Amino acid sequence: ENCKEKKIEDYVRSIPDFPEEGIIFRDVTSILQDADGFALAVDSMQKLLEDTDIDVIVGTESRGFIFGAPIAYNLHKPLVLVRKKGKLPCETIEQSYELEYGSAVVEMHRDSIQPGQKVAIVDDLIATGGTIEAAAHMVEELGGEVVKIVFLMELAGLKGRERLEKYEVASVIRYE
Ligand code: PRP
Ligand code: HPA
Repeated sequence: ENCKEKKIEDYVRSIPDFPEEGIIFRDVTSILQDADGFALAVDSMQKLLEDTDIDVIVGTESRGFIFGAPIAYNLHKPLVLVRKKGKLPCETIEQSYELEYGSAVVEMHRDSIQPGQKVAIVDDLIATGGTIEAAAHMVEELGGEVVKIVFLMELAGLKGRERLEKYEVASVIRYE
């Protein structure tokens, strides 16, 4: 069995009833804390971008940074951060979005994307799609074109893909 190549699914720890009863939480830390798992995750996400012409990688705080950084480094592209409100020091634009309970606000630096740039957005996981929809809106407000959105994990039951239907979306693994 040691000869069998492991897949991403094999590294994902699933925790029932976290953070609330009825939710099966897909844990990214169990992938990251295994060197082979982390490498496979980055390589698999990067592969989903191999036929796409990209100027900029955008990563969303905080787990999107973990994957956005090595992908941007490997592709030798700039990395732009979407951060929770109040963290970025220069002039920003912001977008609010709905959470399961309440709402949140994310920001980008106004000078981080130039009009016409082709942007790929990466994150660890899509649930409702609200976070990435907010990120995509900001990219567009700055004149960027969202050419692809890549996730490691997709929680298909939450229908985030429908929310992002105007974009090209890809994920490495999918849970129903
Ligand atoms: C998680 C996850 C995605 C988002 C997915 O981040 O990393 O960014 O939620 O949910 P959605 O599709 O419903 O928007 P979270 O906001 O928990 O922040 P973190 O990465 O800092 O833990
Ligand atoms: N895992 C990690 N992050 C999440 C999840 C999950 O199952 N659902 C919403 N955000």
